[in-house]
Amino acid sequence: MTEPVLNVEGLRTHFFTDAGEIPAVDDVSFYINEGEVLGIVGESGCGKSVTSLSVMGLVPNPPGKIIGGTIDFRHSGGKVEDLRRVSGRRMRQIRGNQMAMIFQEPMTSLDPLYKIGYQITEGLRRHTKMNKKEAHRKAVDMLKIVGIPRAEQVATEYPHQLSGGMRQRVMIAMAMACDPELLIADEPTTALDVTIQAQILELMKKLNKEKGTALMLITHDLGVVAEMCDRVVVMYAGKVVEEGDVRTILKHPKHPYTQGLIRSLPKMSEREERLYSIPGTVPKPGSIKDGCRFAARCPHTFDRCVEETPELLPLAEGHACRCFLYDSLEGGGAHDRSTTAEGH
Ligand SMILES: Nc1ncnc2c1ncn2[C@@H]1O[C@H](COP(=O)(O)OP(=O)(O)OP(=O)(O)O)[C@@H](O)[C@H]1O
Ligand SMILES: [Mg+2]
Repeated sequence: MTEPVLNVEGLRTHFFTDAGEIPAVDDVSFYINEGEVLGIVGESGCGKSVTSLSVMGLVPNPPGKIIGGTIDFRHSGGKVEDLRRVSGRRMRQIRGNQMAMIFQEPMTSLDPLYKIGYQITEGLRRHTKMNKKEAHRKAVDMLKIVGIPRAEQVATEYPHQLSGGMRQRVMIAMAMACDPELLIADEPTTALDVTIQAQILELMKKLNKEKGTALMLITHDLGVVAEMCDRVVVMYAGKVVEEGDVRTILKHPKHPYTQGLIRSLPKMSEREERLYSIPGTVPKPGSIKDGCRFAARCPHTFDRCVEETPELLPLAEGHACRCFLYDSLEGGGAHDRSTTAEGH
């Protein structure tokens, strides 16, 4: 049986601002198995980045704070550590070593003042016992692996001398240099043009396959999810609303929100005149106290949806959904478990 590399339970990350307490991540649970690619999807503001920052121990504090839950990280030797309980020093050790990350904008992680080669070498030297020469050789190898032409030359250049796509490759080389067990990528290709985007995704997939690195891929693009992921977690306004394997989620989505997201994907085969988009916007976290957070935008809303808060309930093995349409308490009648919200 594969065990999860990462097991997050009941994560709550709130921001304490002048305007009040914002529950950006509100009781979120998910896991990533060894070698697996987990997609986290949802519209802007639903809490994807705050979830990944929480896992990495990088929530800006103040104003943010993790106020609940556990973040169990399993090392390759089998030892499990709750990342919420480890010291800052230990967290820095884990980050960039067993756990690495790639952000949307590579310039936020690359230092403009240092040469590319030096930056990768420094990371390696911090986290491994390599000497300068070995680390340099490994850095150049990594640049080659991520498809950077003239790797020796590029190692002697500064970040601003590279294109966006090349910088993102450097980021991946840096992230993968220490053979992490888990790679967290937050919208890693959104800033790149489509061809480069495809190349970078392919590269991450290849590293995942060849090295068995588990990948947590954050994206708002379901096309990327279809290409890359094994399982998907759909977030809405700080909560998980549906989760399952990628085929189930894309072919038989149950939550009206997931259905809306899929309906808004451009389809080559269908001659839809205008692209569908879910009406309305994501509510501000914390603005809805009772009821389903999607109720105001949902085509299937009924009384209960605005009165009670739905739970995330299992529908089948590995598939769960937070929606009263599938709540057995309704007893099949008007809100049949299997069919009501399907067919979009
Ligand atoms: N520094 C902050 N101060 C206050 N609130 C914040 C801060 N960062 C995030 N939030 C709150 O957390 C919510 C979730 O933000 P998050 O960045 O996780 O969204 P996201 O799903 O990553 O969106 P996007 O797709 O735009 O990247 C936001 O709606 C915002 O209210
Ligand atoms: Mg984000």
